[in-house]
Amino acid sequence: MKSAKFIENKIDDLKQRSLTIGSYIGETPLFPIQKLHSNKDVKIFAKLEWQQFGGSVKARPAYRIIRDAIKNGKLDQTKHLLDASSGNTGIAYAHVGAALDIPVTLCLPENASEERKQILKALGVNLKLTSRSGGTDEAQGVAKSIFEEQPEKYFYADQYSNPSNWKAHYDTTGPEIWDQTDHTLTHFITGLGTTGTFTGTARFLKEQYPDIQLIGLQPDLAMHGLEGWKHLETAITPKIYDSSVPDEIRTVSTEEAHEVVKLTARKEGLLISPSSGANLAGALQLAEQLDEGVIVTIFPDDTSKYGEIFNQLF
Ligand SMILES: Cc1ncc(COP(=O)(O)O)c(C=O)c1O
Repeated sequence: MKSAKFIENKIDDLKQRSLTIGSYIGETPLFPIQKLHSNKDVKIFAKLEWQQFGGSVKARPAYRIIRDAIKNGKLDQTKHLLDASSGNTGIAYAHVGAALDIPVTLCLPENASEERKQILKALGVNLKLTSRSGGTDEAQGVAKSIFEEQPEKYFYADQYSNPSNWKAHYDTTGPEIWDQTDHTLTHFITGLGTTGTFTGTARFLKEQYPDIQLIGLQPDLAMHGLEGWKHLETAITPKIYDSSVPDEIRTVSTEEAHEVVKLTARKEGLLISPSSGANLAGALQLAEQLDEGVIVTIFPDDTSKYGEIFNQLF
């Protein structure tokens, strides 16, 4: 039987280690997109979110969910972190989990890219694959039922409902963008998946500058190739989504996104993911309609986990 002191020390050590990891998350660069649009009175910037521990925008919410759960006594090394993820959140949980010796179990659709599955395996994740046709909605249902069967074994992170998801962006992504644009931005535009990035960042920015325009993006069709995005009309609406936050919702097609991925490689020197391409496609359309302004969007990750699409496009 371990003494109370031993357990207390272990928990203090875990809290300390989780704080150390936090200093390698966020503070990503804001990159100027200079050659893809012609109106020089409109500036477009993209936040390069793959440049942090965990490799994507999802490092922020995954870390915050884990940190908050440790702080509130809901998660330690004796429990499995459990969630459904189309990939990036799962990968971020896996990086942070491995660094903190917290086991991770993930439900994800079988059609998630091979690179993603390999990365998760390499980081020691216990994978539960769900059907391609059921998408992330089915993966969420399976995660929920695993938790309900053995609640003592798991901490169910539930990124779609967990307020730590949007709060991560409210406390980090929003303030970083505000400072990096010297408080000059006029438009924030990004895609909707769990909606955490949009909701948290947009809420913060609106409080700084009430006239800002906040634009959410979604795929044009239910069946689409924009990994990480949700089609609002046909998918389950995430609990953290607040429809009063966006001033406008626009759509982007997978084909438009792929075209922008190609252009961004050749003209800006950046190899970006399909959802990053879709975000930039939305920003470029918006730029066409403005006389002047400062637009910020997000590049959630780069091409490294999309080998199949990369081969197809280049
Ligand atoms: C590649 C990619 N783009 C966009 C998103 C959407 O971000 P959010 O879930 O914060 O809405 C995700 C989410 O998983 C993603 O993995």
